[in-house]
Amino acid sequence: MSTLDAPVVETRRLNRVYRSGFGVKLVPALIDLDLEIESGEVFGFLGPNGAGKTSLIKILMGLSRPTSGEVTVFGRPPRDAATKSRVGFLPESPYFYEYLTAREFLRLAARLTNVPDGEAGDRAQSLLRLVGMEDAADLQMRGYSRGMLQRIGIAQALIADPEFIVLDEPMGGLDPVGRKEFRDIIYNLRERGKTVFFSTHILSDVEMICDRVGIIIAGRLVNVGRLSEILTREVESYEVAVDGVTGKYRKAFERVGRQVIRSGETLLVTVRNEEEVDRVMAIAREAGARIQSLVPRRRTLEDHFMQYVQKQDEGVS
Ligand SMILES: Nc1ncnc2c1ncn2[C@@H]1O[C@H](COP(=O)(O)OP(=O)(O)OP(=O)(O)O)[C@@H](O)[C@H]1O
Ligand SMILES: [Mg+2]
Repeated sequence: MSTLDAPVVETRRLNRVYRSGFGVKLVPALIDLDLEIESGEVFGFLGPNGAGKTSLIKILMGLSRPTSGEVTVFGRPPRDAATKSRVGFLPESPYFYEYLTAREFLRLAARLTNVPDGEAGDRAQSLLRLVGMEDAADLQMRGYSRGMLQRIGIAQALIADPEFIVLDEPMGGLDPVGRKEFRDIIYNLRERGKTVFFSTHILSDVEMICDRVGIIIAGRLVNVGRLSEILTREVESYEVAVDGVTGKYRKAFERVGRQVIRSGETLLVTVRNEEEVDRVMAIAREAGARIQSLVPRRRTLEDHFMQYVQKQDEGVS
């Protein structure tokens, strides 16, 4: 396959083992990881703390070598100079020169990534606008909040107008407004045909912006897919809220419901399918109770994620 139509990222049976405790203990951080990332997609890399997210990102950035297995970025080794020039990167704990202003820092980042001097000023200005940091652009970064630094970190990753943008926990330190603005930045990058890979442990953010999601748990990529495939849109259960139920009818609801919970005057009856909904309705009619609401419950990414985390916990114990 030529490098032109190679996926942006391709890994095959990638393993990374760390040695800790004077090299005595082996920590497998990535286990037989197979992954492909196509041009133009926004990929969310989701996993709990210590799952191996940063370990993979460091390998993709050429900062660390795999213990075994293969990895290419744009069809080439990650350390290849030509590859590096096409990639923008926000590390997990970026280091900022705190006596520089954001504008100076971005101009420095421009110089380090070979952006022509004549373009650096305009590039910095438009990125400061993109990340909502124009007002503080000429203040020293030592006065910045964590969220402000995060925004400058994102701007820095985009300074050389890379084709592939890799962000390790880009939403750490951002408040809800910052998160919303980050999503808009990602939408903007996608529209411009960029490929984005970012790690997070926050489910809702992935749900809104990613074309595909990979779930990594304890070094294993346990699931990869389009969100529409991972999350069945099917209704998993129904929750019927019934008011005015007296003692003897409660038992009847309990016979039908998978779960019955009292909340004040209301009985919340969870059932599996429409037929059971009908039975709940029939009991309510007979009991002279009122149906307050009927809510279909769909599987969320959270349910999905928790299912894997629980499996993992069971495996360990
Ligand atoms: N340099 C290292 N030496 C030894 N063990 C390491 C090293 N770096 C990471 N690990 C271990 O490898 C595993 C994966 O760590 P990694 O930093 O990749 O996880 P992560 O998914 O990025 O976690 P977080 O969400 O906390 O950032 C963890 O068990 C971690 O303790
Ligand atoms: Mg990490």
